[in-house]
Amino acid sequence: MSTSAEPGRTWPLVGRAAELDDLDDLLASAAGGHGATVLVEGEAGIGRTGLVEALASSARLLSLGLRTARATPERPEPYALLSDALLAHPPGVARGPVESELADLVDAQRADVRRATVRGAALAEERRARAVELFAALLRRRGDGGPWVLVLEDVHDADAASLDVLRALAHEGDVPGALVVMTFRPVPVRADLSQVVDAWVRAGARPVELRPLGPAATVELAQRLVGGAVGPALRGALATTGGNPRFVTDVVRTARSAGALEARDGVVDVHGAAWLAALDTLVRTRLDYLDDDVLDLLAHASVLGTSFVVTDLASLVSRPVADCWRTLRVALAAGLVHARADRLVFRHDVVRGALYASLDEPRRRAVHARAAWALREAGAPTQIVAGHLERAR
Ligand SMILES: Nc1ncnc2c1ncn2[C@@H]1O[C@H](COP(=O)(O)OP(=O)(O)OP(=O)(O)O)[C@@H](O)[C@H]1O
Ligand SMILES: [Mg+2]
Repeated sequence: MSTSAEPGRTWPLVGRAAELDDLDDLLASAAGGHGATVLVEGEAGIGRTGLVEALASSARLLSLGLRTARATPERPEPYALLSDALLAHPPGVARGPVESELADLVDAQRADVRRATVRGAALAEERRARAVELFAALLRRRGDGGPWVLVLEDVHDADAASLDVLRALAHEGDVPGALVVMTFRPVPVRADLSQVVDAWVRAGARPVELRPLGPAATVELAQRLVGGAVGPALRGALATTGGNPRFVTDVVRTARSAGALEARDGVVDVHGAAWLAALDTLVRTRLDYLDDDVLDLLAHASVLGTSFVVTDLASLVSRPVADCWRTLRVALAAGLVHARADRLVFRHDVVRGALYASLDEPRRRAVHARAAWALREAGAPTQIVAGHLERAR
């Protein structure tokens, strides 16, 4: 399964020169016959797909072979990711002996899962070892035809069997003649994914962490999207994106489809506030990958403001602090909040706004009332407490 470019993607990438240079060096080294492995990590929408698409363009320019596959949670069957990457076959081309044996092995394993057949541990281990051996052989053999690039996207959603093989393959080190790129989000947090990452880092893989765009790159991206200079109100909206390129494109596209963008003397700006409800709805859907307990806790936190104290949040939701903290650690890992002194701060105000808007009116009023009580108990200034009481009415 190959990844596809999102319509309207800007080209070239903004603010990713250093990462692209790194990848181009590794690509050149793969073209020279060496192997390299790259682990691209970054929060949802940060630009992992954009980066590997840029890499794929470079690979095409160098006439390197390219295989890409993307894991999705809808495909948990054994070896779904690796089969897509390595066993997909053009019609009419006969499978080699390794591919045939592997395809049979994969089919047998899937049939067992479907029928919930319980096999002996010895047989399971034997099959697993054979799968590792055959996938390793396939990877090595593909390099005989010349250097190539293998992109495995969204391995945080990969089936467990593929992750197991990827971890085992790390022991053999880089694949000769291949640049292998794995991309993943930090959430969901998965022990089997951490093991893959650790094993590859130990084997010398290059970790690339995609950071948010800075303010200048954020505006540059928006300027490309609107095709002109950006006015003050639009800049204000962009400042709520925390430098996440998906939120930047969401802001611009939502404003545009709501007819809220206006160009005057080459400056494009946004008018009115009516489009913000559509933005809240869209941004809320961007958070669907998070579990309900994380979303619910963050929605309560959104009532406390752009930043909040963990103990205040715990008393707001009447849960033990340690319990809240366990949930908040997922939000920290996902890059939705970060720590500043004794508080946690929402990294993207557009996310806080969307979560706040996701509370219906009666619920929002009730949470404000509880917040007033919790903050008064915690000794908060009276005007803060009064602000919540005001919004509780
Ligand atoms: N550096 C960049 N310059 C210009 N546009 C970018 C950049 N990074 C990302 N984008 C755009 O932002 C949007 C989100 O990027 P992309 O899909 O690459 O993120 P992702 O990390 O793969 O997201 P997901 O977590 O959903 O897989 C896309 O429309 C993409 O084209
Ligand atoms: Mg992606």
